[in-house]
Amino acid sequence: MLRTHSCGELRPAQLDQTVTLCGWVDRIRDHKGVIFIDLRDRWGRTQVVIGPDAPAEVMERARAARSEWVLAATGRVGRRPEGTTNPKLSTGEIEVVCHELVILNEAETPVFQPGAAELPGEEIRLKNRWLDLRRTAMQHNMLLRSRIVKIMRDHFDELGFIDVETPMLGRSTPEGARDYLVPSRLEHGAFFALPQSPQLYKQLLMIAGFDRYVQVAKCFRDEDLRADRQPEFTQLDVEMSFVDADDVMGVIEGLVVKTAREILGHEVPLPLPRLSWDECMERFGHDAPDLRFGLEIVDLGEAVESSEFRVFKGALDAGGRVRGIRVPGVAEQYSRKDLDNLTTIAVDAGAKGLVWLKCDADGNWTGPVAKNLGEGVGQKIREALAAEPGDLALISADSFEVTCKALHTLRKHLGKTLALYDDQAMNFAWVVDFPMFARDEETGGWAAMHHPFTAPRPEDLDKLGTDPGGCRAIAYDLVINGSEAGGGTIRIHDRATQQQVFDLLGISPEMANERFGFLLDALASGAPPHGGIALGIDRWVMLFGHLDSIRDVIAFPKTQRASDLMTEAPGAVDTKQLVELGIRTVVPPKPAPNTVESPS
Ligand code: AMO
Ligand code: AMP
Repeated sequence: MLRTHSCGELRPAQLDQTVTLCGWVDRIRDHKGVIFIDLRDRWGRTQVVIGPDAPAEVMERARAARSEWVLAATGRVGRRPEGTTNPKLSTGEIEVVCHELVILNEAETPVFQPGAAELPGEEIRLKNRWLDLRRTAMQHNMLLRSRIVKIMRDHFDELGFIDVETPMLGRSTPEGARDYLVPSRLEHGAFFALPQSPQLYKQLLMIAGFDRYVQVAKCFRDEDLRADRQPEFTQLDVEMSFVDADDVMGVIEGLVVKTAREILGHEVPLPLPRLSWDECMERFGHDAPDLRFGLEIVDLGEAVESSEFRVFKGALDAGGRVRGIRVPGVAEQYSRKDLDNLTTIAVDAGAKGLVWLKCDADGNWTGPVAKNLGEGVGQKIREALAAEPGDLALISADSFEVTCKALHTLRKHLGKTLALYDDQAMNFAWVVDFPMFARDEETGGWAAMHHPFTAPRPEDLDKLGTDPGGCRAIAYDLVINGSEAGGGTIRIHDRATQQQVFDLLGISPEMANERFGFLLDALASGAPPHGGIALGIDRWVMLFGHLDSIRDVIAFPKTQRASDLMTEAPGAVDTKQLVELGIRTVVPPKPAPNTVESPS
């Protein structure tokens, strides 16, 4: 071993011991001929002092050393002089009085200082990720990730789950995103798809009798990226046999309690609240609502029933909805510009506009459309919203979907900008009773809300044939602070129902046989009732770490353009490789994009 201790280990208990530390030069100062080096490793920082008593060659090397050089320093542990202790540092009471210094490696002047308080732009961080990962915050994030994954593994191990690996090279598993494809060299024109999730494999493991499967699984989805989405991410993937939804949710609730206890020191009361999908959409306009604050959506259909105001009447006559939220006490502080900004947010979310009304001291509405509301309508809106003088009302009139999008986006924005919740708060809830299907906007046909292997509620089985839109799934999503942190379902375990669902989704029997023949055969070979869930590990770490960006919990993440700025992947390949694969490209590859989005 080159060292006796880590840079985060020494305390007054080790006073007068001779120790050797190895690490990077975090900071170096020459103070009237005495050189102070803060030596850093992943456990912390320790002050190394090279004073006038140090041997000449040690002093010479210390003078030469620069930021990020790698050193081994040997010396005696001394107490820092009165007034120079650093309570912020775990090693702040001691220093190492150095008498031997080995330069293990020099470093060119780094593009940025990992130890500096000021953060460079994310592009620079991603390009020089090895430097970025030296930063204390990133080391903390990676450690947090490792701890959370260990808690997960231990939890499932204790419950008798078995860890089975599933292939990366396989057939497409539909989770609603585009596939990443891998060409076959031996069969030109044929492609593997990287898994969007191990969904089908884990179902086959249940059919094979490996009840209680768990895997930390890499998933690949070629979709538009956001602050909480990566093209390559990790799931904690779970499947169980002979269970119902409560059993699966119960196992995850146990994990929530343990993780919150060990990571945050919080006790989470069980059972976690459950909201139906309908209730979520009505009250919050979204299926992963942030329940850390109020600002609930209120239906104003009845209140504005008699209104001739074009915007309200138009929406109601077209079968749409008029809904609003009350923002307490902000009427005075919100300027015209602020309200225009809220309107822009609603419009960007798909609305045609936004009605805003301010409740004045007498309880009357003011605002550009206040006069158009109609006789008694203002009063009814006030009652419906329970509005008080000083409140602001924001109203959207449109199809149900558009009002959901607009008001959800506004709610999220207001919750954050008005600081309506404690940043450190954690809120957990289940969303259940999802519809089985949603209309596919492109084709007009039905699309699976979760995936095509989800079981309908037994009482809705008949509706598969008569009213697919009214059919509810046995599905459950775990929502943490308004983020979908996991999702699962009970599966179809009989061939006939699976075929019926494929049929509804526009997958012909021939296509179903071609793509999912193995599943249909397996379902007909004695499939147990089964179900499971997958947790987004990256999101869990981001949420438990109170971080804004998923990229901060992934060692080597991709940008919003799905590229890796460090390795410059994806990149061009040799023509020889393409010839071997039987591939001819149409467009020459573009230079690597350099953009990253800001966290939302
Ligand atoms: P689902 O598609 O809901 O379900 O994925 C499960 C969880 O994975 C996380 N997640 C992502 N995290 C980061 N980047 C992404 N692009 C991304 N996409 C999803 C989310 C999500 O809740 N096979 C089913 C699970 C099942 O039915 O058992 C599935 O993959 O936190
Ligand atoms: P207009 O007559 O289109 O200028 O709209 C009058 C007011 O109603 C403006 O403040 C618009 O922002 C708002 N508005 C227009 N369409 C809608 C809608 N669908 N929902 C809510 N407000 C709207």
